[in-house]
Amino acid sequence: MKLHLLLPVLTSLFSSLLATLPIPELHFEEKIFEDDNTDITCSFRYTENVEVNLEITQGNITLKDCNQKRGTQTNNVFYTNRTCTVEVTMEMDNTDFLCDAYFKTESEPKKMYVQREPTITDCPNKLVWVEGEENSFHCKATGYPVPTVTCKKDQAIYQEGTKHKTWRNMTGNYTCKAINFDSDSKIVEVFVQCKYPHIGGSGTLY
Ligand SMILES: *[C@@H]1O[C@H](CO)[C@@H](O)[C@H](O)[C@H]1NC(C)=O
Ligand SMILES: *[C@@H]1O[C@H](CO)[C@@H](O)[C@H](O)[C@H]1NC(C)=O
Ligand SMILES: *[C@@H]1O[C@H](CO)[C@@H](O)[C@H](O)[C@H]1NC(C)=O
Ligand SMILES: *[C@@H]1O[C@H](CO)[C@@H](O)[C@H](O)[C@H]1NC(C)=O
Repeated sequence: MKLHLLLPVLTSLFSSLLATLPIPELHFEEKIFEDDNTDITCSFRYTENVEVNLEITQGNITLKDCNQKRGTQTNNVFYTNRTCTVEVTMEMDNTDFLCDAYFKTESEPKKMYVQREPTITDCPNKLVWVEGEENSFHCKATGYPVPTVTCKKDQAIYQEGTKHKTWRNMTGNYTCKAINFDSDSKIVEVFVQCKYPHIGGSGTLY
């Protein structure tokens, strides 16, 4: 879309957004007399329970003797009222007071993840397994996206952490690989201790 077409869309979007923004309102006492104290209230009402800070100013002076209250009116209207007391002087006559509302809203926290090549961690160089028992490779890897780790020897492929029954023919050197968009690998040497008599006899260490 060309910019001159986009601009009116943005402007109307912006003004409709502004129209939904709540505006604080100032209230004076009905009759104000010189040398008396008078209360000035700034009232901020909104359909959302947002935390708001109100500030009442006259020219460049911010009123100091104030207290702020928060509560709910009927129909889910939340209000914050700030009431300041001032001693009235004749100089205040026909001058403007203003109320500024500062409020903040915040999103849910959202974590950022940066693509990171895999690095194999906690992967022992050597494993000793007992024949007939259930064993698994323990080769953790860091990286993002979380890498998959497998250990391979010839045609046999084992998923890291997955238990499998141990046979004596599993003895050998395995290449453990962590893969996401990149890869890292490490050789793990596996020895299987034979418990049961076989061709090689009992107690043979392969
Ligand atoms: C807050 O101020 C508004 C406007 O002056 C008033 O109607 C309302 O009663 C006030 N609420 C409280 C709790 O003082
Ligand atoms: C506040 O305004 C008055 C009158 O406009 C001026 O004389 C004074 O210097 C101002 N004070 C500050 C701190 O800006
Ligand atoms: C290893 O030995 C087991 C049991 O004898 C057998 O089932 C399996 O096929 C053998 N695996 C390989 C890769 O030779
Ligand atoms: C693993 O490889 C090393 C180095 O090549 C070799 O010395 C060792 O005997 C191998 N281990 C097994 C169980 O085959």
